[in-house]
Amino acid sequence: MPNTLATDAAARRSQEETLPWVSTHPVTTQANKLVILATGGGKRYLITLRPGQVFHTNLGHFQHDDLIGLPLGTTVHSQLGNPVLLLEPSLSDLITRIKRNTQIIFPKDAAYLVHKLSLRNGDQVIEAGTGSGGLTIALAWAVAPAGRVYTYEVRDDNYQIARANLERVGLLENVSMYMQSVAEGFRQQGADAVFLDVRTPNLFLDQVRAALRPGGFFAALIPTTNQVIDLLAALERKSFADIAVEELLLRQYKVVPDRLRPDDSMVGHTGYLVSARPVVDPTDPGRWLSEDRKRYAARLEFEEKALAEEERRQAGNTDAGDRPRRLPLP
Ligand SMILES: C[S@@+](CC[C@H](N)C(=O)[O-])C[C@H]1O[C@@H](n2cnc3c(N)ncnc32)[C@H](O)[C@@H]1O
Repeated sequence: MPNTLATDAAARRSQEETLPWVSTHPVTTQANKLVILATGGGKRYLITLRPGQVFHTNLGHFQHDDLIGLPLGTTVHSQLGNPVLLLEPSLSDLITRIKRNTQIIFPKDAAYLVHKLSLRNGDQVIEAGTGSGGLTIALAWAVAPAGRVYTYEVRDDNYQIARANLERVGLLENVSMYMQSVAEGFRQQGADAVFLDVRTPNLFLDQVRAALRPGGFFAALIPTTNQVIDLLAALERKSFADIAVEELLLRQYKVVPDRLRPDDSMVGHTGYLVSARPVVDPTDPGRWLSEDRKRYAARLEFEEKALAEEERRQAGNTDAGDRPRRLPLP
């Protein structure tokens, strides 16, 4: 009797092997491309391999020529005999190893933002301020090759640094950069998403509305609760709905399989992520307030009524000596 399980498995394997699949990732290090040199001590150097150049570290130096054309994942040694591992840079490596003139948006927040803004290849996304270009890298990575990032910055020094960073990581061709304040508005209309990383995003919601397509996505990242409160008030005034306030905490682990436990310290706070969608027919903007918000408003109204009732009672306007009338809790 034929072994049908074995023949099924063989048929499946032959199908899998014939799937047309070609990885777009390089398998060897290449001249004029970025590579990570990872040390045993946890350091990661992002360098562009240039023929004839030398890379100096406190572990010794490395001739670029000796690093070009090797399979990624190869261990190489400095002239002092210290080893480093050659790795393809991840998106996180690109974001965290750029030159910084400002605080940048870290990978944990950038990754979630890409989801909240629902970005995909082909999208048109607007961002301000550019800062050092940390988030711009994540946005361009998400919308390339068919999409585009339009990024606005007021400071010339930040603009120049972000431009150099984007050029270095090979994403400048997917980005349009403007030295212009959000206050003046954006040059684009019909954008799929707008993201603000400025101190007062609450002041720029008219500009956001004017640039977004109907149904488009808005988000901002702000470090303090005071800014969140100002932004929430402005979002309500300007008829945004589907409002969310979120914060991400990321915990790293000590990689010891026999004694797996979190690192002793962690980054306590980066920022609050506020996201919302514009309502295009704001006839009754209050309708889309969150249930918590509506319940709180009802409670405030109740407390005001109860206070007024008590004041009337004490002034003798109700039957003296009556027990205060209990108002129903909302
Ligand atoms: C925190 S940084 C942005 C960091 C950036 N998201 C990153 O990941 O590298 C804020 C930037 O917004 C810029 N900025 C402040 N007000 C602005 C405005 N009204 N229009 C455009 N950019 C502005 C600042 O100059 C600064 O570079």
